[in-house]
Amino acid sequence: MRCEMKTTRNSTQIYVDYNSTAPLEDAHLEAVMAAVRQFDGNPSSQHASGRRAKVALEDARNQVAALLGCRAQEVVFTSGATESNNLVIQGVAGKQGEFFTTPSDVKSARLPHVIVGATEHPSVLELVEVLAERRRIRLSIAPVDRNGVILHDALVSLVDPDTVLVAVMLVNNETGAVQPVSALADAVKAKNSAVHFHTDAVQAMGKIDISWLASSKVDSAAFSGHKIGSFKGVGALYLKSGSKLQALTLGGGQERARRPGTENVPGIISFGLRARDLVSDPAKAWLERERPAQLAFLAALGRISGVKVHGDPGAGIANTINFHVERVAGDDLLLNLDLAGIAASSGSACSSGVGRPSHVLKAMGYSDWIALNSVRISFGARGGAGDVSRIAEVLEQTVKRVLSPGVG
Ligand SMILES: Cc1ncc(COP(=O)(O)O)c(C=O)c1O
Repeated sequence: MRCEMKTTRNSTQIYVDYNSTAPLEDAHLEAVMAAVRQFDGNPSSQHASGRRAKVALEDARNQVAALLGCRAQEVVFTSGATESNNLVIQGVAGKQGEFFTTPSDVKSARLPHVIVGATEHPSVLELVEVLAERRRIRLSIAPVDRNGVILHDALVSLVDPDTVLVAVMLVNNETGAVQPVSALADAVKAKNSAVHFHTDAVQAMGKIDISWLASSKVDSAAFSGHKIGSFKGVGALYLKSGSKLQALTLGGGQERARRPGTENVPGIISFGLRARDLVSDPAKAWLERERPAQLAFLAALGRISGVKVHGDPGAGIANTINFHVERVAGDDLLLNLDLAGIAASSGSACSSGVGRPSHVLKAMGYSDWIALNSVRISFGARGGAGDVSRIAEVLEQTVKRVLSPGVG
């Protein structure tokens, strides 16, 4: 199956792929360029240029911390959420398994136990699967219900005395399902207070209220700048003060030695500026802006024959709808949307240009065919309520053409 097609900014009139990335807006680009011209030193240098870059770096950290409601020193800048998830999982659990080096050790030792949700992003799932294969950890996968929400009691029953890490994402990127992360963290810690509770909160930033995060029992959370309209290749890890974590890279003291290496100053400035914008344009305003598009699109989909919507969009984030059309390949739908200048995305797992059935939909109980042919629409500033009828029209025409080839 062909993966999502990205068109250029000029040829795309409607962009409804915000969960994949939020396009850079011109005003933001200009603000970053102006800042980068001023702050292009190495933040570790002692001279004036370095000191200025350091100030810009710490300003950005304060802006991200303000959005998260945490302390600045609890923000670790990374290259994105893939790295943030890897840093926590390997830094908390994977490294412990390294001490068991011989087969007899592995047999007799009680490996660190890790629990993750069945619908996690591949940057969590693929990593823990590899660590389990290499006998660095013992892995349990917590099931979800038909709407993609973790079964609370099932997850808590998996926690045992050897559990070191639980990772449950806050918002699913494919379906928009929101997990009861704070309640899960409470229940997990009540059973084993030593567990590190991590959440991949990439799709939550700017979309739902996350001001409770720092005062909850969640120990760490992963974020990605480009999902909120900053440059790509920058992200953050919220790491609660006092959490123990082994760095993945060695050789420098940057980020308090939790992520050594010269910082991506332009990216971090960009992330900081977008975080500042979001503090003044809170998630509640975003919800009010995006929900009408979602509701209008659901109504429009209801008028197209064979459309089945997955999960419970009304209970999830306001911009996302995931669906399939019976007997119509997701590829056909995406290609025709793309030809009409509408950028949407396949719901299936997509990397290196090859589509695989979505593990998220499969965990929710859908068939392989549905998991391979689902489509995700995620609204935002360049594609919203005003574009719904055009998107629905293209979908409807495509469905008619595919199902009755002589028509249209
Ligand atoms: C839920 C989720 N986690 C992690 C990532 C990876 O983020 P990044 O692109 O910053 O590595 C993404 C990006 O698609 C995501 O949606």
